Amino acid sequence: MVSPTQVPDVVLNNGVTVPQVGLGVFKVPDDATQQNVEQALEAGYRHIDTAAGYYNEAGVGAALRASGLRRDEIFVTTKLRNGDQGYESALQAFEDSREELDVEFVDLYLVHWPVPSKDLYVETWRAFEKLYADGAARAIGVSNFLPEHLARLLAETDVVPAVNQIEVHPTYQQRATQAATRAAGIAVEAYSPLGRGADLGHPAVAAVADAHGVTPAQTILRWHVQSDRIVIPKSVDPERLASNIDLFGFALSPDEVAAIDALDSDARLGSDPATAAFSQYPA
Ligand SMILES: NC(=O)c1ccc[n+]([C@@H]2O[C@H](COP(=O)([O-])OP(=O)(O)OC[C@H]3O[C@@H](n4cnc5c(N)ncnc54)[C@H](OP(=O)(O)O)[C@@H]3O)[C@@H](O)[C@H]2O)c1
Repeated sequence: MVSPTQVPDVVLNNGVTVPQVGLGVFKVPDDATQQNVEQALEAGYRHIDTAAGYYNEAGVGAALRASGLRRDEIFVTTKLRNGDQGYESALQAFEDSREELDVEFVDLYLVHWPVPSKDLYVETWRAFEKLYADGAARAIGVSNFLPEHLARLLAETDVVPAVNQIEVHPTYQQRATQAATRAAGIAVEAYSPLGRGADLGHPAVAAVADAHGVTPAQTILRWHVQSDRIVIPKSVDPERLASNIDLFGFALSPDEVAAIDALDSDARLGSDPATAAFSQYPA
């Protein structure tokens, strides 16, 4: 187990701190989520990333209650489904998430996708600003926002997002979006940080892993940590879960970081934020 104190905090632009390594629970069935999150808390995680569209917020909430930890010891992120964008519908969806999680407040609430074809993300952000002003969300942010979507929010609304959660892994680094995010004072959070497993077999990753006697996953996650990204790997395997946060007993050299930087090859795995428009309601 890693002591939670070994995991650095990232300070967001409103002063709220978030443990740099968290657990993602995308695709974990609700009835398996409580056990997955409990095992993560045992292993030293204090940051959990879920979403209304994952349909497992209740499992996360059950683990929080069963853990015996104080609510303020665990950082919880959830996200607004695309089909719930709009001012009133976002406020209602937040209440539904809060009920599912059974929490007084959410640490970070994210607009899951911009859905530019619906043109509702500015109006939606106004609802997020209200939730933030009310203290219902300690920080608000976005996910899958490209530079043009960030620019519009910055121009037309008041609160600068605290986080932009985007797909980043060795073979898909989105450098322009990372740069635009950071330039606005917004923290970069990497989703699918292992490339959903696809980047683990890369020979360049294996070479660095062998040099340090760690796993390819630890190598990639350490690369994210040293690149100042918040990172949320998913694993339902207790050993992989534990090793994915055991990242603080070794460090990559600048050359090793550069060798992984060099793997960028535009290999996006997820949907294209410019066109994605699915509702995230059950099919
Ligand atoms: N905002 C968004 O639109 C968005 C989109 C996608 C994901 N996310 C978030 O990001 C989180 C992580 O992304 P992700 O789940 O897509 O992908 P990921 O974390 O890059 O990869 C997860 C995959 O890698 C495997 N894995 C994990 N640790 C491993 C290890 N040490 N060795 C070998 N294999 C390992 C997992 O299998 P096992 O479980 O069997 O270990 C799983 O198949 C999600 O859970 C979610 O919270 C957000």
